[in-house]
Amino acid sequence: MLRVPQGQFLLNRFPKQTQEPLRAWDAADEYLLHTLTEQPLSQEKPRTLLINDHFGALAVALSAYQPTTLSDSYLSQQGTLANLRGNGIDPDTITLCDSLSWPTESFDLIVIKIPKSLAMLEDQLYRLRPLLNEKSQIIASAMCKQIHRSTLKLFERIIGPTHTSLAQKKARLVFAQPDHSLIAGETPYPKHYTLEGTDFTIINHANVFSQASLDIGSRFFLAHLPKDIGQKRVIDLGCGNGVVGLVAAQYNPEAELLFVDESYMAVNSAKANFKAAFPARKAQFEVMDSLTKVAKASSDIILNNPPFHQNSAVSGHIAWQMFRQSLEVLRGGGELWVIGNRHLGYHIRLKKLFGNCKVVSTNKKFVILKSVKN
Ligand SMILES: C[S@@+](CC[C@H](N)C(=O)[O-])C[C@H]1O[C@@H](n2cnc3c(N)ncnc32)[C@H](O)[C@@H]1O
Repeated sequence: MLRVPQGQFLLNRFPKQTQEPLRAWDAADEYLLHTLTEQPLSQEKPRTLLINDHFGALAVALSAYQPTTLSDSYLSQQGTLANLRGNGIDPDTITLCDSLSWPTESFDLIVIKIPKSLAMLEDQLYRLRPLLNEKSQIIASAMCKQIHRSTLKLFERIIGPTHTSLAQKKARLVFAQPDHSLIAGETPYPKHYTLEGTDFTIINHANVFSQASLDIGSRFFLAHLPKDIGQKRVIDLGCGNGVVGLVAAQYNPEAELLFVDESYMAVNSAKANFKAAFPARKAQFEVMDSLTKVAKASSDIILNNPPFHQNSAVSGHIAWQMFRQSLEVLRGGGELWVIGNRHLGYHIRLKKLFGNCKVVSTNKKFVILKSVKN
């Protein structure tokens, strides 16, 4: 139960697990919500923008302001809606935006949960600047370990004078005062790199996994992807910028591709990358939680480099959910290909689920596994 001056709220993470070891909020949310009632606001009911609220703790507690809430995460959005309903609040009281469809009106109060990625924060501060008015107040929060000198420099460079609060329960607040005379420029995102071994230019929005260069695990996976599979339906599950599906499409000119991720920026990057690489070829691109929107027994090959954390919390449950849903979505004889760090022990889960698990290739750090649906 979240107990703050705004009320007491029952909150769950999303997707909800029966034995969830983690809370749906953190000390940074609590600190922020307490501070909001202690400091004077420019308006009684400020036009409020919430950025990166993890599972709706801020949206639920501040629902009286009818906030606009902006996130790159489908899971966060779904968690926010579920928590609003769970606390008897009509979800229509808030406006949901994703990270590539920003509102255009100005806001009086902007509450930012500082994201893990500095690139994402940079992009968001640039996109936020035009929405600031003379009275706008910006309060950001995070656990202390996530606030660095570089974080504060970004606020100072893009927004204006910035100071921090004292730490409380290992959380800290950041106050940025908009300087309207500042000429900050425009967001440098999306950024590009050329995919090694190809002439594909890879577009990366700010929040995309390994947005600055190809991840070493992904590189290893690319070198071992299935070839000559014919007219199969292939899913790039957790596609990020889509490099895995893109190279699979190159190896398999007749394959039909579906790119899936819970990040709006990821799916948008994958779509741009596929269209640039194969202008005449069709593929599907969907924002969703794992494979929840994909029909059962509809696909032949699933390629998966799973996440091992959600927000800042290290956790395997998303990977397990991806494996379980892959088993349902594959046709008989279909294959799930997974890459992971060797120490993560994915082979144990895969063997238990599928009854088989073969090592396709391995190096010092990574292992590529294949399980077949019988
Ligand atoms: C390790 S990255 C892999 C990215 C890319 N496939 C690659 O190999 O470079 C894992 C991806 O899974 C996505 N992801 C995390 N949770 C997800 C979920 N519940 N459903 C769909 N995608 C998810 C993340 O946004 C991220 O893009």
